[in-house]
Amino acid sequence: MAHSVLVVDDEKLIRWSVHERLAQEGIHVEEAETGGQARETLPDGFDLVLLDVNLPDTTGIELIPQLREIDPDVPIIMMTGDASAETAVAAMQAGAFHYCTKPLNLDELALLAAKAIETTSMRRQVRQLQAKSASDYGFDHIVGSSPAMQQAKALMGKIARAPASTVLVTGESGTGKDLASKAIHYNSERREGPFVNITCSALPDALLESELFGHEKGAFTDARAQKKGLFEQGDGGTVFLDEIGEMSPILQAKLLRFLEEKQFRRVGGNNDLKVDVRVIAATNRDLKDEVKKGGFREDLFYRLNVLTVELPSLRERVGDIPLLGEYFAQRFAEEFRKPIRGIDKPALKLLQEYPWPGNVREFRNAIERAVLLCEGEQLTAADFSNLAKGAGLSADFELPQGGIKLDELERSLVVQALERTKGNQTQAAKLLGINRDQIRYRIEKFGLK
Ligand SMILES: Nc1ncnc2c1ncn2[C@@H]1O[C@H](COP(=O)(O)OP(=O)(O)OP(=O)(O)O)[C@@H](O)[C@H]1O
Ligand SMILES: [Mg+2]
Repeated sequence: MAHSVLVVDDEKLIRWSVHERLAQEGIHVEEAETGGQARETLPDGFDLVLLDVNLPDTTGIELIPQLREIDPDVPIIMMTGDASAETAVAAMQAGAFHYCTKPLNLDELALLAAKAIETTSMRRQVRQLQAKSASDYGFDHIVGSSPAMQQAKALMGKIARAPASTVLVTGESGTGKDLASKAIHYNSERREGPFVNITCSALPDALLESELFGHEKGAFTDARAQKKGLFEQGDGGTVFLDEIGEMSPILQAKLLRFLEEKQFRRVGGNNDLKVDVRVIAATNRDLKDEVKKGGFREDLFYRLNVLTVELPSLRERVGDIPLLGEYFAQRFAEEFRKPIRGIDKPALKLLQEYPWPGNVREFRNAIERAVLLCEGEQLTAADFSNLAKGAGLSADFELPQGGIKLDELERSLVVQALERTKGNQTQAAKLLGINRDQIRYRIEKFGLK
């Protein structure tokens, strides 16, 4: 689409020559003779305004804030007749993008116009992207009305409004820790700043350190150039440290220093650098337990554990399953253009009975698959056949040639179930398809505590 420029000048000859010159660049030009006309025309949408200082009904300087109100993004270039510095300064202070002096050098003006137009289109794109991110990560995209979720969401809202404090997000895999940290960022005062993230378990120690803190040229063999770390890249925004529980003790100490002093050094550097970031750390481990076992520094734990969002597993909020089901069914039905209206009762029952070890992620994938498979207008149990099969898998288990040790297998399954549910016997029993007495009996039998 052609770019468009509004030329505001009371001199016909100026309007005409600018019009002609910019038209050569393929730019669409409209003209206004007065401030009043400029205000009337600007709402049509322009990429640039060229503005004369002296107009019949007002001055260009006075007009700038009025035009800004109509379109906050449009750049304005002042065309000043007198070459005095005051007018130029006043124009820039009023918010002009640039100024040029008369008599106009039309080639220079065309170049300047191209530059200004490029700036606006970028500014508009960024604004659109930011608006998209903010609406994509609104709290209403975190589905759940169970008490546990309501509580978690209310806390996230409060945290978003407290712009600087460090946050810890905990929850099993797939409970929405990523989603929660983005929601906090995009609903905070920092939303226009960057959101940067790293998975602490994905890199060896030395690499993770230089990713976080950056390095100076020559800090190690591969350091051919200086590199900014995540904390510098995230300045003014949020740094999300995923899987913090896997961080080595040495880096934990360095992170603690950074959190306490808000300053750090690049690897191989001698200067203390200061940045303004909010750190959100996430883990699917029980950090308190890790502290007890000696794998996680106690002081860092207390530093992180000031504001903690605990995301419940899907098993702990079975009541949210109809809502979540409806939400994802609708989303995928739209995406795949299928006329699906919801989930029938037996299917819902199946979904509420399944233990969802992969939580919302697994749930979402199951709905996506079901929507793809579904032939009717409602998702039925048949569309979730893989879940039903998963539940009945043990019956299909084929005895290996060499036989098995039934006792060991049973013990291992009980231990796994208890680990997965963090020792909750009722939930572990549910995972195994037995009742509480039956699991208690086995815990005793195998001498599990
Ligand atoms: N409450 C929720 N409402 C809607 N979608 C959710 C919710 N919780 C999680 N999801 C979706 O489930 C998927 C997994 O969420 P996310 O990646 O945030 O989990 P996670 O806790 O970070 O998992 P992991 O520990 O594996 O990194 C994403 O597609 C996310 O959008
Ligand atoms: Mg995650």
